Amino acid sequence: MAVIAQKCPEIQVTVVDLNEARIQAWNDEDAKNIPIYEPGLSDVVAEARNRNLFFSTDVEKAIDEAEMIFISVNTPTKTYGAGKGMAADLKFIELCARQIAKVSKSDKIVVEKSTLPVRTAEAIKSILNNTGNGVNFQILSNPEFLAEGTAVQDLLNPDRILIGGDPSPEGKEAVEALVEIYSNWVDSSKILTTNLWSSELSKLTANAFLAQRVSSVNAISELCEKTGADVNEVAKAIGMDSRIGSKFLKASVGFGGSCFQKDILNLVYIAKSYGLHEVADYWEQVIIMNDHQKKRFADKIVSTLYNTVSGKKIAFLGWAFKKDTNDTRESAAIYVADDLINEQASLSVFDPKVSESQILSDLNYLNSRAASENRSQVSVLENPYDACKEAHAIAVLTEWDEFKTYDWEKIYNQMQKPAFVFDGRNVLDGKKLTEIGFIYNGIGL
Ligand code: UDX
Repeated sequence: MAVIAQKCPEIQVTVVDLNEARIQAWNDEDAKNIPIYEPGLSDVVAEARNRNLFFSTDVEKAIDEAEMIFISVNTPTKTYGAGKGMAADLKFIELCARQIAKVSKSDKIVVEKSTLPVRTAEAIKSILNNTGNGVNFQILSNPEFLAEGTAVQDLLNPDRILIGGDPSPEGKEAVEALVEIYSNWVDSSKILTTNLWSSELSKLTANAFLAQRVSSVNAISELCEKTGADVNEVAKAIGMDSRIGSKFLKASVGFGGSCFQKDILNLVYIAKSYGLHEVADYWEQVIIMNDHQKKRFADKIVSTLYNTVSGKKIAFLGWAFKKDTNDTRESAAIYVADDLINEQASLSVFDPKVSESQILSDLNYLNSRAASENRSQVSVLENPYDACKEAHAIAVLTEWDEFKTYDWEKIYNQMQKPAFVFDGRNVLDGKKLTEIGFIYNGIGL
């Protein structure tokens, strides 16, 4: 919304949320303090805020005044009832639709921005069209393809914009209204319009294909470790095939983030609910492989450290699910940490952007043990040198660029010997570290 506001000064954009503290943070006088860290975002907000970009808790007023409403609430995986652990929980979407239905006095276009299971638009439509107040609603699907850490750039230069709508004349008119907004900065050749269901399914499919590439290369990484092949060389060799392409082939400790796992589980659930068991199993394997990759990383640390990490200190560099974000949702670090704490390791964590309270709350959320135990096993440090001091091993969980620039001699001198490094992102210079004296382990090397 901030980018739309920046690019379309004639459109008034109001972002509303029930959470007062959150809205207050978005209104913080210093735009550097907005609650999401994303390169370039503070500047965009600083430029548009209080010009044509507003943050407010007055939800009803904003609904009443809007001609177009983007629903951007979260759709977490259900933790109860039918589809538990797999289906998307649409409770928040439904509450939004009901509130829009209740408040609206004039015709509106409602845009699904959240990633939703196929045919959600039908449910929204049914709620909106049964208010009996004569207001007409058009529902559009406009999934977001930005990736965190590069969100502003992805929005400014998108590969494509996807807009799904009803094929009726009114539906087409609504699609056109949204096309017009994006046309302010996106070339028309990159704006795709489809029917609603194709648009909804394309978002889940795009994420499933991307995650599948990571799981595929991660599956090969394990084979590389056994055979003496080097996964970086293999990835380069296959990536130069223009039919395959070079992106999304970096072997890692496993993908994380708020989308991949959730969206694939969603796809699996939809397939199952139509009785398509082979389709469901095919996609579920992407998740199974990812869980295996995280587990195998933790197992390797334990087996390399002479089969026990009990009472040993292991330093974690990175906690976020990838670099340039403070988002930790589904980060591989959480699961690796959980396994190592089960093995009675003490962890000392450093991440340039993630806070101590976030790290502890991520671990507590797993419910593996008492919060007090997590607190006693995990310390969070303000600088990487303190985190690594006296450690038996260092595990790199996020590919932050700054890790490459550390004084590795100094880190080595302050560690227990032999000093192990487990590079879950293959970001460090293994050759240089080996020369210093480290025992270096990467993924698929
Ligand atoms: C993803 C999609 O890319 C985006 O289009 C969608 O809108 C939201 O979900 P995001 O979750 O922000 O975006 O991150 P992404 O860059 O896709 O990375 C996901 C995970 O895969 C990260 O944990 C990342 O580290 C990992 N990854 C990615 C790899 O392990 N190897 C790779 O080669 C690429």
